[in-house]
Amino acid sequence: QHPTSQMEENSGLTRANCRAKGGSPGFKVAILGAAGGIGQPLAMLMKMNPLVSVLHLYDVVNTPGVTADISHMDTGAVVRGFLGPQQLEAALTGMDLVIIPAGVPRKPGMTRDDLFNINAGIVKTLCEGIAKCCPQAIVNLISNPVNSTVPIAAEVFKKAGTFDPKRLLGVTMLDVVRANTFVAEVLGLDPREVDVPVVGGHAGVTILPLLSQVKPPCSFTQKEIDYLTDRIQNGGTEVVEAKAGAGSATLSMAYAAVKFADACLRGLRGDAGIVECAFVASHVTELPFFASKVQLGRSGVEEVYPLGPLNEYERVGLEKAKKELAASIEKGFSFIRK
Ligand code: NAD
Ligand code: LMR
Repeated sequence: QHPTSQMEENSGLTRANCRAKGGSPGFKVAILGAAGGIGQPLAMLMKMNPLVSVLHLYDVVNTPGVTADISHMDTGAVVRGFLGPQQLEAALTGMDLVIIPAGVPRKPGMTRDDLFNINAGIVKTLCEGIAKCCPQAIVNLISNPVNSTVPIAAEVFKKAGTFDPKRLLGVTMLDVVRANTFVAEVLGLDPREVDVPVVGGHAGVTILPLLSQVKPPCSFTQKEIDYLTDRIQNGGTEVVEAKAGAGSATLSMAYAAVKFADACLRGLRGDAGIVECAFVASHVTELPFFASKVQLGRSGVEEVYPLGPLNEYERVGLEKAKKELAASIEKGFSFIRK
């Protein structure tokens, strides 16, 4: 039996042809880790996205309940749940976009790299499934440490002969969301009017906000720059400590993931001028992966933009970021190559 929890489909009472589609092209989206702290609100928000026609929710626990719950929302997407490794292939087959928030989160005192031993294996298995069942899908990878899990995913796809650098994106959107919020607070602006490029990677000093390139154009005192850089780089830790053992950012992450996934889907639809920051295969520095602004389109990442002019403070930050990033990327590569 198909692992759906939609009662009307199971009962045979659905008049399938009557299902409203709203006229827009629908994309098929899978969330892997859909029953988790990020996965649940992410699933809810994706069910509200009019670009989504089919939403597959996969996890190793609790997907029947989450799926039953979300499937009652009166929005267009058809929701199906998939539980456990034996249903992974069914969850992935035919998907246009796969979002991965599967894996363990940090507790106070841990770095994101401390999650490597558990999450590397989870990401490897899930990406093997993607390579087999939906090699053309765009992948949005959220599981930490992103600086290593994206190289792991790339190596899995290379091994399978399916690697397309345009289709693999590490999600760093939460750093941009935080940067917009904190900068807007300092400037006394509406955060929706603020755009802060954040480049590098997604951990500590690898998170490099380019405050000299904030839009609308503005200037900061050195004290403000120190405060903002530190707060943006440690935003994740701020949440981990406030949650005091109950996990890391989930709600703001789900918001950021949906903002990013929506940009990917609008790109797939063919909308012009979709530009977001993401951790992708890159020639912007000497490193094989780097986060910077990218243009999203029908084939995924259509252009990776250079960093633009940096001031001295940012140049120093870039050197620090590259040093740590190089080690994290290599750690990801060698996990698969060894
Ligand atoms: P969580 O523990 O609440 O949820 C994780 C979910 O993954 C659980 O439901 C679990 O059952 C599931 N899971 C575990 N192994 C799996 C597997 N093999 N296949 C499918 N699902 C599996 O954790 P969370 O708070 O949702 O965080 C998830 C991950 O996202 C963590 O690694 C966290 O560090 C990361 N994260 C990244 C960002 C970012 O900006 N990129 C932000 C926040 C959190
Ligand atoms: C974040 O930035 O909130 C995530 O990477 C989770 C974490 O561990 O900080």
